[in-house]
Amino acid sequence: MTGKALNVTDPLNEAAMILRQGGLVAFPTETVYGLGADAFNPLAVARIFEVKGRPRFDPLIVHVARLKDLDDLVHHLPLFGRLLASAFWPGPITMVVPKKDGVPDIVTAGLPTVAVRMPAHPVALQLIQLAQRPIAAPSANLFGHVSPTTAGHVHTQLEDKVDFILDGGPCRVGVESTIISLAHGNPPEILRPGGVSVEEIEEVVGSVRIPDLRGGPVQAPGMLSRHYSPSTPLKILKNHRDVSRGEGGRIGLLAFQSPPDKSRYQAVEVLSEKGDLQEAAANLFAALHRLDAARLDLILAEPVPKIGLGLAIMDRIERASTPWGEKGG
Ligand code: TXA
Ligand code: MG
Repeated sequence: MTGKALNVTDPLNEAAMILRQGGLVAFPTETVYGLGADAFNPLAVARIFEVKGRPRFDPLIVHVARLKDLDDLVHHLPLFGRLLASAFWPGPITMVVPKKDGVPDIVTAGLPTVAVRMPAHPVALQLIQLAQRPIAAPSANLFGHVSPTTAGHVHTQLEDKVDFILDGGPCRVGVESTIISLAHGNPPEILRPGGVSVEEIEEVVGSVRIPDLRGGPVQAPGMLSRHYSPSTPLKILKNHRDVSRGEGGRIGLLAFQSPPDKSRYQAVEVLSEKGDLQEAAANLFAALHRLDAARLDLILAEPVPKIGLGLAIMDRIERASTPWGEKGG
């Protein structure tokens, strides 16, 4: 055990040094792996966009290790922000708040707001503290693809394009943070469902707005309807009879609980045998990565209940899906 602990210290120091020198480090958080750069180094942040193939108009989340780190980023946290921070930070919730002028425009895509989050992962927190600066980081995947929940996923997608990959094991939560905007008055608005459920948030701040994220104008590309996508076409199963409706080729199933008949599928991933939504969220992206690697013609996904973490799971599955009748992926 001691040997292991010692081994972790060195990579962390090296990674922090790389960040301070303007490099890119992939690191674990409790939600998904992030691709980090010094938030106050615009050239380093620009490389994140290049490496991911991400459009410049899609702003990044800035990660902090202590509340004090917010001083460089925001004038003050509004009351609801302080309540949410004390209830859920460190943890999977990101707050969008008015930014300080010094926050580089490339981080916020020129918006007057900045998205801030304190992740609940010891490696992430130590990295930020050792680097001694806030870290801008999107998920460490190619733009539009499935987010990474293991260091192996990061290797497969970004390999030699990043300067360092810190391995902190599989991510505990497995879906990205909930994004809540506190920038446009009350009630606060959920911009992306995620690791903290709407029910939990409403216990702290009362009712929130949940706009229909896939209707109306695009506020940020994380909200584009097709996102988080495997390269294999994915369709949401209405019921298991859909399978017999002439879908040929190799079909895989993303099941919530155990499916009635596994034999129809070339590959089956079960998110949670006992129907636990937290377990399902933690397994979601790894299951999608495996199905995507199984040379399938089609992935069918069983819906999960849209309560608690189920809202975030269905949001990701819906964005990964190709509507019935539409070809390709
Ligand atoms: O769990 C997470 O949030 C992970 C880990 C690494 O922290 N990060 C993550 O980052 O999911 P990313 O870049 O994949 O998604 C961030 C989302 C994007 O959809 C972006 O548009 C939105 O946050 N965002 C960032 N700044 C914003 C702002 N000022 N206003 C509105 N949306 C913002
Ligand atoms: Mg992402």
